[in-house]
Amino acid sequence: MYNVAEIRKDFPIFEVKINGKDNTFLDSGASAQKPKRVIDKMMQVYKSEYANVHRGSYYLSEEITGAYENARAIAQKFVNAKRADEIVFTRNATEAINLTAFCFGRKFLTKMDEVIISQAEHHANLVPWQVLRDEIGFELKICKIKDDGSFDWDDFCAKLNGKTKLVAITGMSNVLGVMFPIKEIITAAHQIGAKVLIDACQYAVHQKVDVQALDCDFLAFSGHKTYGPTGIGVLYGKYDLLAAMPPYQYGGDMVDVVTYTNATFDVPPARFEAGTPAIVQAIGLGEALEYMMHIGMNNIAAYEEEVSRYAYDELRKVDGLRLLGDTDKCRGGIFSFVLDGVHPQDLAFILDKEGIAVRVGHHCAAPLVRRMGFESVVRASLGMYNTTRDVDILCAALNKAKTFF
Ligand code: ALA
Repeated sequence: MYNVAEIRKDFPIFEVKINGKDNTFLDSGASAQKPKRVIDKMMQVYKSEYANVHRGSYYLSEEITGAYENARAIAQKFVNAKRADEIVFTRNATEAINLTAFCFGRKFLTKMDEVIISQAEHHANLVPWQVLRDEIGFELKICKIKDDGSFDWDDFCAKLNGKTKLVAITGMSNVLGVMFPIKEIITAAHQIGAKVLIDACQYAVHQKVDVQALDCDFLAFSGHKTYGPTGIGVLYGKYDLLAAMPPYQYGGDMVDVVTYTNATFDVPPARFEAGTPAIVQAIGLGEALEYMMHIGMNNIAAYEEEVSRYAYDELRKVDGLRLLGDTDKCRGGIFSFVLDGVHPQDLAFILDKEGIAVRVGHHCAAPLVRRMGFESVVRASLGMYNTTRDVDILCAALNKAKTFF
């Protein structure tokens, strides 16, 4: 039984009043709040367990190396990877996607090839491919989404062909909240021999990820959205692919033999983790993923589906509210909208006075927001701790905002 009242108690931030009001935090899509056990774990590591990893032959260094590698094993379990060395720690999901683009791309893509992304991609899964296209000369195809925000399967099939070498696609749009049919996309891409990268930044927070069942080649997510700290992200990659890719950055801890004239490189994941990594953040992320797995990803998904359905129905009752991605199919708890007659920035300001946190703007997906007919929209995004009461508070504040104009 999912007990949201108990879960909220795990997050100290909800004790904080905002402008004298209850903290109605609806910006988990930007960054989620942290449970106490993540905060405590990181404090404990800094206070009594800290040293560098992979370098010292003394007690603290050996212990913390074990804790860092244990975090990798937890991430492996979280995504159900076959091997722990298929998990690369990065700075965030943006770095995980850049790593894939530049290391896979420079090795395997030529100007004869094609890469497919979608109209719904975050800048992090758009701009690296544009830059690489300009360098290599391949064709970058942008698969359409429909007016209701859903994936245009026919357009995808029309764009997929023997020249497609990579499909890089989001599992869940950070603007529309719509989830894409990633299993079907991966199967279709594999049939013509293309590899697939899933941007699971939003998806992994709300849905169980199983990279073996999906059979994706790469999958990226960030720690700070999965209730962990900032400064840490995860790239999952099939081992043989990672092993065939050159390093991303160069320096300490990623080399095998170094002379004044040359260097050889370590195997993955060390090959991709140059320099001192984000040690405490990785351990904090491990704690956050354990917390999510303890509650159960399927339980989180089922609860969030209930609250999201409620939010979808209630938001549509607000007079003058236009929702982007207005579909109740395959959608999660992310709602971007405009309220007729109220500028999005003004609306966010008014909501803040009511203790409600939302994000406003193009949400690092400017082409998508424009594709949906807007320049700037307000976004309310749910986490595992949000309730139907939060939705009621938001809707009441939206109705109140209209009376100001
Ligand atoms: N990518 C994050 C968002 O959608 C920051 O807000």
